[in-house]
Amino acid sequence: KRRSAMAAAAVALLPVGLRAQAQQPIVLKFSHVVAADTPKGKGALRFKELAEKNTGGKVRVEVYPNSQLYKDGEELQMLQLGSVQMLAPSVSKFGPLGAREFELFDLPYLFDNYDELHKVTQGPIGQSLLKKLESKGILGLAFWDNGFKEMSSNKPLRTPADFRGQKLRIQSSKVLDSQMRALGATPQVMAFSEVYQALQTGVVDGTENPPSNLYTQKMHEVQKYLTLSDHGVIEYAVVVNKKFWDGLPPDIRAGLDSAMKEATKYADDIARQENEDALAKVRASGKTQIITLTADEKKAWKKALLKVHRDHEAQIGKDVIREIYKETG
Ligand code: LMR
Repeated sequence: KRRSAMAAAAVALLPVGLRAQAQQPIVLKFSHVVAADTPKGKGALRFKELAEKNTGGKVRVEVYPNSQLYKDGEELQMLQLGSVQMLAPSVSKFGPLGAREFELFDLPYLFDNYDELHKVTQGPIGQSLLKKLESKGILGLAFWDNGFKEMSSNKPLRTPADFRGQKLRIQSSKVLDSQMRALGATPQVMAFSEVYQALQTGVVDGTENPPSNLYTQKMHEVQKYLTLSDHGVIEYAVVVNKKFWDGLPPDIRAGLDSAMKEATKYADDIARQENEDALAKVRASGKTQIITLTADEKKAWKKALLKVHRDHEAQIGKDVIREIYKETG
């Protein structure tokens, strides 16, 4: 009792600002929409662990998975308002902010593998995309991978003709809207947190996801077929409220920067395996039939989809698309 009274007296002697610092850690809320057991969910937890360690507990990171705190459509606004400090949305969700250049990642069959993807995320194009967020009060710290998307539905989707009459959920991206229309389907934008129920009740027939999202949201329980189309990617940008970040004491910010660097490497390292494991679990569940496309079928998908690149040249930048073609061969 006496000791705590003395400690309180000692704190009382400090200037007000320092007093608050001595007593309370800086709280950094990190909100996301997927399960904890996904590449992003695990990356967030790794960041928390490293950030708290690097700052000697001066920062407390609170991770809120599964749209528990904010859903798509809310979370970016809440970041701008400062109600949450860190997010890692799929870059397909920056459109409503007015940053539709990020939708380059939605262009179908732009990337054949993770190495090609990293040429963009870890190169000058990735950097200049993140820069575009600054005028919106948002600082982009890193890109995190999830993986390649597969198409799911209650109907087997093998050829573009199979898409006719299908209503498919998409993220809020113009490029994804065009992609679904090019295949002959009707796209419907919907928050991630609502997809399972929409599939269950038949509001939509199907959707697209990397296996890690499909499995951890139990979508495979309400989808009869999964086509291994690998037609696109889900890529994340880890973003923070710029004012919050710029206002951090430099030593603390350095600790968080290095935590982010390490968490980024970790998240990217596990993405492929996590998705392979999730696909194996979907297969083992016996609830969803997995369809592998023949070379000719895949060709037909590509043929139907490549026009989406041309249709969005103005939005994304012809030069940027050319540069990516050059880099990815
Ligand atoms: C989706 O909405 O399908 C994805 O962006 C969810 C996510 O964060 O992976």
